[in-house]
Amino acid sequence: MSESSTDLREVVRQRYAAAAVKVTDGGTACCGPQPIETDENFGSTLYAADDREALPAEAVAASLGCGNPTAVAELNEGERVLDLGSGGGIDVLLSARRVGPTGKAYGLDMTEEMLALALANTAKAGVTNVEFLKGDIEAIPLPAGTIDVVISNCVINLSTDKPAVFAETFRVLKPGGRIGVSDVVSDDDLTPGQRAERGSYVGCIAGALSFTEYREGLEAAGFTGVEITPTHEVADGMHSAIVRAVKPGR
Ligand SMILES: C[S@@+](CC[C@H](N)C(=O)[O-])C[C@H]1O[C@@H](n2cnc3c(N)ncnc32)[C@H](O)[C@@H]1O
Repeated sequence: MSESSTDLREVVRQRYAAAAVKVTDGGTACCGPQPIETDENFGSTLYAADDREALPAEAVAASLGCGNPTAVAELNEGERVLDLGSGGGIDVLLSARRVGPTGKAYGLDMTEEMLALALANTAKAGVTNVEFLKGDIEAIPLPAGTIDVVISNCVINLSTDKPAVFAETFRVLKPGGRIGVSDVVSDDDLTPGQRAERGSYVGCIAGALSFTEYREGLEAAGFTGVEITPTHEVADGMHSAIVRAVKPGR
């Protein structure tokens, strides 16, 4: 990894650590001017009321996503789900309920403070079929072919090595496994410089891939059936989108 991408990753880690501490101290991670600049396009308002009501207030307050991947991933009883960049744990807890006691939901995050918040939220939610892992989404600490569904909510845009994220996601999925991801995606005609003019890297804007880059990245890793559906605009020419794809082989 180059020095600048290491620096960028550390900036991301520090900003999300600060967001986790803010929630732990009784604030909300989303929609204030500090420590993460977000607006009504991000956070817990993107979840249905019954999803929000089923969770501890701190898990809802920590929501920093740009969609609701659990609503699009069509999770089934008994499945094993992995959430890349699980933050305060909102999507892991919702997934755990959907897959039931015979299934399991894993959360993976690199930020110690977010993992601590997620564990506290899990204890409050009284959910037992979950496990949080510390690590990088570019080097997933799970064996190959063990996961049915990979979800993620507004995290892949933050990675400084997106081909590694796609390759690792493909590796851990079982043949026939699928992804259901919410992420920020740019119009194809915006250059990286124009994306950076529209928002910061830590704010999930500057690091976004275009629709074509996203599709080509997933296909290069081996995915098929790639569908990228924009849901709402988060900045001029930048969209929150639902990304679906399948690992062939079943
Ligand atoms: C925008 S927040 C989203 C959190 C959560 N998915 C949600 O919807 O609330 C980004 C999260 O991804 C984590 N993260 C960012 N880059 C990561 C990486 N390369 N590897 C692991 N975690 C990462 C951050 O620590 C943070 O918790």
